[in-house]
Amino acid sequence: MQAFIEQMPKAELHVHLEGTLEPELSFALAKKNNVPLDYQTPEELIAAYNFYDLPSFLTIYYAAMKVLCEEEDFYQLTWDYLSKARSQETLYCELFFDPQAHTSRGIAFDTVIRGIHRAQIDAEEKLGIKSQLIMCFLRDMSAESAMEHLLMAEPYRHWLIGVGLDSDEKHNPPVKFAEVFRKARDMGLKLTMHCDVNQLNTLVHISQCLDDIQVDRIDHGINSLESDTLCEAIKARGLGLTICPVSNRFVVQSLTSNEIRQMLEKGMLATINSDDPAYFRAYLNENLIELQREGNFNTEEITTLVGNAFRVSWLPEPEKQVYL
Ligand code: ADE
Ligand code: ZN
Repeated sequence: MQAFIEQMPKAELHVHLEGTLEPELSFALAKKNNVPLDYQTPEELIAAYNFYDLPSFLTIYYAAMKVLCEEEDFYQLTWDYLSKARSQETLYCELFFDPQAHTSRGIAFDTVIRGIHRAQIDAEEKLGIKSQLIMCFLRDMSAESAMEHLLMAEPYRHWLIGVGLDSDEKHNPPVKFAEVFRKARDMGLKLTMHCDVNQLNTLVHISQCLDDIQVDRIDHGINSLESDTLCEAIKARGLGLTICPVSNRFVVQSLTSNEIRQMLEKGMLATINSDDPAYFRAYLNENLIELQREGNFNTEEITTLVGNAFRVSWLPEPEKQVYL
């Protein structure tokens, strides 16, 4: 089964580029940019990855970004992730990035997006892995800041496929960003939002995603299973759910294999993803392999999960068909 998963052509729809920052690259960039780190070795840093909820992860995730300073650093981060993904037979990725986490440290928006874009072009040409970029807004920052960043992105509109919403969900509902997402849709961008597992008011958040924002996809969305109405609406609209099993394990001590099986049984379009693979120490293959073991999924179920990622991807329809 492991070999079957490893050799399958795969797509990844939920990966934060900043969450692919491996400790080794972090130390190399810290040295190059003269940035002090709180740890002496990559091993010591990894030992500090004992997350138990979303905020405990986000604190370490944002602190580590201070080593990303120049365009070349964003290039390297993106190139390294795409190389790793390609080595796992992942042929297509939709990549999240968090510009506000960089502009708030004085790094120019252009520096971030130019480095990422250049690596995407090179990786497609030299490695044969295609990717598209999704700009995320940090939901614990203001809607005004999100709008400013959407305006900053306007000259780069054609380097983006969509916008997303991530970071701390508590007291930061989807409707806080209704105007920003309306404008993004008017710009021709696709819309997605995080509804992380077991968050406060999660069913309200999922319902706002569907009715107020009219998202094109939901990131995580595991708790939708608690409501038949939400499940029906998600299914009727053909919305994909980007589930991240190893990421979930930090919060609910399970790879959510039961929930993923229920989604498959209901005909919901669940997909498997890695979220922040450098922090959760699992890329796409490891997520699929561990999930298969926990849930004892058969080859048909795994094929459906992997196929769903291509089905609900934001690739043009003819390109999807190549993989299905
Ligand atoms: N930013 C990076 N990873 C995230 C996650 N899993 N949830 C919310 N925000 C994030
Ligand atoms: Zn995420």
